[in-house]
Amino acid sequence: MAEATNDPVRLPPAPRIPKLVQGVAFVINRDKAVAAVARRHGSEFTLNLPIFGHTTVISDPALVKELFTANNDLIARAGTLGQVLGPGSTFSLDGLPHRQRRKLLVPPFHGKRMQGYEGIVEEEVRREIATWPEGDEFATMPSMMRITLNAILRAVFGADGAALEELRELLPPMVLKASRLAVMPPAARRDYGPLSPWGRVEKLRRRYNTVIARLIADARRDPGFEDRNDVLALMLQARYDDGSPISDDHVADELLTLLAAGHETTATTLAWAVERLRRHPRLLARLRDEVDAGGSDLLQATIFEVQRTRPVINGTARMTRQRIKLGEWVIPERHVVLVSISLAHATERSFTDAEAFNPDRFVGNPPDTHAWIPFGGGIRRCIGAAFANMEMAVTLRTLLQEFEFGTTYAPGEAAHSRGVATAPARGGRAVVYRRSLQEPRLVTADATEASA
Ligand code: HEM
Repeated sequence: MAEATNDPVRLPPAPRIPKLVQGVAFVINRDKAVAAVARRHGSEFTLNLPIFGHTTVISDPALVKELFTANNDLIARAGTLGQVLGPGSTFSLDGLPHRQRRKLLVPPFHGKRMQGYEGIVEEEVRREIATWPEGDEFATMPSMMRITLNAILRAVFGADGAALEELRELLPPMVLKASRLAVMPPAARRDYGPLSPWGRVEKLRRRYNTVIARLIADARRDPGFEDRNDVLALMLQARYDDGSPISDDHVADELLTLLAAGHETTATTLAWAVERLRRHPRLLARLRDEVDAGGSDLLQATIFEVQRTRPVINGTARMTRQRIKLGEWVIPERHVVLVSISLAHATERSFTDAEAFNPDRFVGNPPDTHAWIPFGGGIRRCIGAAFANMEMAVTLRTLLQEFEFGTTYAPGEAAHSRGVATAPARGGRAVVYRRSLQEPRLVTADATEASA
């Protein structure tokens, strides 16, 4: 575990490149920039970035474990997302208030509860794929975005009817605008009038607050309120240790947080899953056989491997509150430590033949908590990990039941940053044939497997 120290500061090596050049390279392609420095300096190095300032990048599992398990007095969250989501968002809380909030939020997202949401997700998937064209290549990303948006609005917000319609229309542009402004300097998040970028976000936010206030009032009036399973109802019923509830304003901030954190991340991972599967015909055939036989081990391993090789969040940051010892390094106070998820997943030390897309590595061998970190770790580990996993498993299972996928020799899609999440640049394109209509199987590539 990382510990406080008075030893002299000792940072990992820094590339001798001007700050501006480092910043531009980081903004243009974070993954490539970080990988290039890692090739030269190894798994730990220090960058000098705009907004973050001096930032130490780590990816070795032993150091990642030390950081993720460090005491809250030593490290805090780093990043600006809380500023756009509101003071009641988990992303705005640290220390004791953060721990208290997690105590109330984690139980509704516990693995066992997730089965209760499978029906909602399957319904959304079936509704969406009813319109998928047969035999024509198309991007699956827009469908994945609709599936994960509707799943969260129904299972988490407990929305239906007019409120569901209004949130469906209001939230995607609001979250997109806000997350773009979140990665800009603070001045971009000032309201300079209704036509300014932040002014527009504020206008949408006022509409959002009105819909959520209505949703909360309706939930409290609902005679079946206490038996409801949606996260909104569970949050309204939850009590802190002193018996007080989460305030309605904080419930609104938290719902927005869950949507912003959980919608696009899950959709982009699903689009990557389609992109990978099309290029691995033998795996596709094995998955189809497994799903037909009612199994799920290979499918789960495939989800793990998609998240390892194509992590949609490529890093997560912490800020030191005191000078700390981290492995052999001594990191000063108020210094950002960035855990590079992409580097951690690409190292041979943790994953043999790391370049290869090989779900079998995880069959009967679940990933290590500090080497496989698409959901981060420690006290700030993703609250929605079990929800996301359930959504991805149900979506992929349903797709495999319904469709034969046309496979391809085309090179893999490049990665494209959408601001927060990294997506396949061409939207995870697919060609599908309905299985009920198309037997025997239609595939366009032979059984030769692409390995990466
Ligand atoms: C594949 C999908 C997802 C990925 C890859 C993902 C990834 C992450 C990552 C990397 C973090 C930061 C963890 C850290 O700093 O250690 C995080 C935090 C978080 N995620 Fe997710 N996430 C996903 C889906 C979801 C879903 C579906 C929800 C909720 C419905 C959600 C809610 C949250 C929340 C509330 C946090 C903040 C936790 C805290 O600061 O205490 N995420 N997620």
